[in-house]
Amino acid sequence: MPAADTLRPHSGSCVRFEALAVLMERVPAAKAAAAQALYARVQEGKAAVSPRRVLDEPPDLPGRPERPELVEPRKLGRRSMQSPEGRAVLLHALAHIEFNAINLALDAVWRFNGMPEAFYVDWLKVASEEAHHFSLLTTRLAEFGHTYGDFPAHDGLWDMCERTRGDVLARMALVPRTLEARGLDASPPIRARLQQAGDHASAAILDVILRDEIGHVLIGNRWFRYLCDKISADAHQTYLRLSDEYRAPKLRGPFNFEARRDAGFEEEELAALAGLEAPPRTDD
Ligand SMILES: [Fe+2]
Ligand SMILES: [Fe+2]
Repeated sequence: MPAADTLRPHSGSCVRFEALAVLMERVPAAKAAAAQALYARVQEGKAAVSPRRVLDEPPDLPGRPERPELVEPRKLGRRSMQSPEGRAVLLHALAHIEFNAINLALDAVWRFNGMPEAFYVDWLKVASEEAHHFSLLTTRLAEFGHTYGDFPAHDGLWDMCERTRGDVLARMALVPRTLEARGLDASPPIRARLQQAGDHASAAILDVILRDEIGHVLIGNRWFRYLCDKISADAHQTYLRLSDEYRAPKLRGPFNFEARRDAGFEEEELAALAGLEAPPRTDD
């Protein structure tokens, strides 16, 4: 029986508890559908948020399938976009990112109590959009004769979730403002390679994802600044400190300045990134 059903009898109508149940769901398609259904119910006013509720962490988060096999990032090969198999590997890697992104957004909802109600609604919206991205990618992957789980993947995204489990400020700094923002930078070159290979259908999915991801990073920026303002901390300096403290991946260019500006990064931060801008990698 799916985790969501197992937990429902104790949940009342608390959206945060239900988000935890969806996070525990192991079947990817069921998790994606449940994340979208939960946000739809919130939008219709059929589910309430309890910001103050403190929930116990169950073991074995997040719920995930036995496959894909999780390996170290360096063990994942890169393949040419020119072959269908190479594009299937890429679509699978992107689907894995989106599967993790559903989990990350749901985790923000259940884990951090005491935030304004809008915080939880924002992250449920993100979870729902990540579920949509996952569905788009797995549908396209099926057209290549593959399903999610067919190729190995890495666990870097959930790892950052674990590291920042005790601090919502660090979570906002390092998940949406770092990892998801990296996606804004990574998207245009991947899209260009798909387009170049004549795969317009996959390129069109990348367009949808980039548009939505700008919104996710904007949400991350919104709540990061809210938390910084609450403790009268300078946002840029606080980000640098947290990035160091939590050993965030070092940022390197090329950066998508236009998307980052739309996603709410301030000129001071963009100027700091411009200082890091390195020549494009030759192995792309
Ligand atoms: Fe996404
Ligand atoms: Fe996202």
